[in-house]
Amino acid sequence: MAQDWKSFEPLLIPDIPNLQQIEVYEGNGGYDALKKILNDQNEWSRDNVVNEVKQANIRGRGGAGFNAGLKWSFMPDPDGGPRYLACNGDESEPGTFKDRKIFEFNPHLFIEGALIAAYAMTIDTIYVYIRGEYISWVEKFQKAVDDAYEKGYLGENIMGTDISIDLEVTYGAGAYICGEETSMLESLEGKRGYPRVKPPFPAQKGLWGRPTTINNIETLANVPLVINNGAQWYSDLGAEEHPGPVLYGISGHVNQPGVYEYPTGVPVLELINDVAGGIRGGKDLKALIPGGSSTPVLRADQLEGVTMNSDSLKDAGSMMGTAGMVVMDEDTDMVDVLWRIAHFYHHESCGQCTPCREGTGWLEKVLLKIKNGEGEMKDLDLLLDVGNQMEGRTICALADAAVWPVRHTINRFRDEFEARCKKSTHAVA
Ligand code: NAI
Ligand code: SF4
Repeated sequence: MAQDWKSFEPLLIPDIPNLQQIEVYEGNGGYDALKKILNDQNEWSRDNVVNEVKQANIRGRGGAGFNAGLKWSFMPDPDGGPRYLACNGDESEPGTFKDRKIFEFNPHLFIEGALIAAYAMTIDTIYVYIRGEYISWVEKFQKAVDDAYEKGYLGENIMGTDISIDLEVTYGAGAYICGEETSMLESLEGKRGYPRVKPPFPAQKGLWGRPTTINNIETLANVPLVINNGAQWYSDLGAEEHPGPVLYGISGHVNQPGVYEYPTGVPVLELINDVAGGIRGGKDLKALIPGGSSTPVLRADQLEGVTMNSDSLKDAGSMMGTAGMVVMDEDTDMVDVLWRIAHFYHHESCGQCTPCREGTGWLEKVLLKIKNGEGEMKDLDLLLDVGNQMEGRTICALADAAVWPVRHTINRFRDEFEARCKKSTHAVA
């Protein structure tokens, strides 16, 4: 990474008091990117905005890391009918708690990014879907939306132009699966949150069958940075293949858990030791889940030289996910950790697909048996086998997300799992 990351000044959540107040946001350059575009729509045609964002290579911050501008480019040409932007603030992945910081401390940056996205894709309705447990953040965010309407950034004829865009805030009811993009669309339509088969992708057939783009909150908050400073400036920040600032949510056995903003590409061990204050109680690091519970766990001895960006983490055998880092110390019981994760996915499976509905139940049941000291060696192979039967055979990625932790935690901490199994039995061939 070219920059000295420790001297990085936060861009998504800068240290400016009361930035959630619209006047303070405006006083610090807020809504300038939107004005720049709307005041010069020849220079900033819709296509030019999409291309600028595509070149910047904002990798989706909801977990999948898909190029946001490329996703926008999948929207078909307008046909005069409705088109939607659905903003995913349902963050429910265990270890992930960064979008709520944007709702609380810099909501207008996200609103401005969503407006630019809507302009670029000829969208006139934005939905913002926030997890139900975040009710106080829903209320805070609604205040920001009301202020943006009052100031003329939202609603009819924005800033005197012929552009009109509405934004509606809504929230979930505690189901993790409603953060899956097509399930969120079902929920927005007032139905039970069952994921849809893809393709068709939402760009082709989304809300009420109409073209829809779904972006994460943090992803959209990056958009004004690109418009204000240019794609080249943005793509020079952090890791080349995964640029920009990232909200690292660091939790677990560290002295100072929290959300920290730095560019991508920061060494994992420096984030744990220098940013989050090291392991609490002076203990040793045992393991790290780098980007939310579905991203494969890494042993401490796998972390040397690894940086927080998709390529480096892939080489190490994991994924960037949401950059929600769960740090575990030497006393952590990996069997217990894995059982808890399996319990979560079983509980959250929507039940549509048999491999997921039954498989997540089996994973949890067998892990509980091992956790209680009643497992046998052959159960470890059974777990891996059940996982193999689930992966890639379901409508959405929840089943895969349930399998990866099981596979990698057992493979990377096999001794610990074997030690918990009854010694009298042997692994099957
Ligand atoms: P994905 O990789 O299938 O898709 C990424 C995005 O690109 C989607 O919006 C999809 O519609 C779009 N896309 C991909 N190929 C396309 C094509 N050919 N045409 C048009 N659009 C296309 O990933 P998915 O299922 O959206 O997300 C999974 C990720 O979500 C996981 O990596 C996980 O880390 C993360 N996650 C995050 C959670 C959170 O709380 N933030 C919760 C659960 C999972
Ligand atoms: Fe539902 Fe699981 Fe199938 Fe996803 S994989 S649709 S959560 S049953």
